[in-house]
Amino acid sequence: MAPKPSRIVAIYPGSFDPITNGHLDLIQRGARLFDRLIVSILRNESKQPLFSTEERMEMLREVVQDAPNVEVDSFDGLLVQYAASKGATVLLRGIRAVSDYEYELQMALMNRRLAPEIETVSLMSSEAFSFISSRLVKEVIALGGNISGLVPPSVEVRLKHRLHRTAGS
Ligand code: PNS
Repeated sequence: MAPKPSRIVAIYPGSFDPITNGHLDLIQRGARLFDRLIVSILRNESKQPLFSTEERMEMLREVVQDAPNVEVDSFDGLLVQYAASKGATVLLRGIRAVSDYEYELQMALMNRRLAPEIETVSLMSSEAFSFISSRLVKEVIALGGNISGLVPPSVEVRLKHRLHRTAGS
């Protein structure tokens, strides 16, 4: 059995297009569990994100600046290879509802097959955030709905700016 590392480094991977209060809740809880938490954005332009990787990193940095053991990064390629390059032994993911479970289980099992020494730790979403997704937030604000309380205020400002500019162009 591999010895327990003296400092546990965890990766919280995702698209974060953009970060929601659900993501932020998971980051805060993950930061209490692990010595170092790296929130890392998948660089995947084929998904046609609303915000570029750099913009998403900036938004993440703005909201985690007071958490000393949280860092923001980006990656491409295989997640487990990236995790190993960072010395991480944990992949952190959130589960909001049963509908998330199948996808998360599939990814966790594939990642374990690829790298058995890296564990996936899934935290259940806090109930206040269990209905929030980046996709729905973008849909609601694009249609003129109120998203306050669903994303950090700085992200709300950027969303309004981006969608206003897109609509006006
Ligand atoms: O927030 P998302 O979009 O559900 O995050 C998905 C993510 C980034 C965790 C997943 O797509 C990923 O890990 N991609 C990297 C490629 C990879 O390692 N694939 C094989 C393992 S499932």
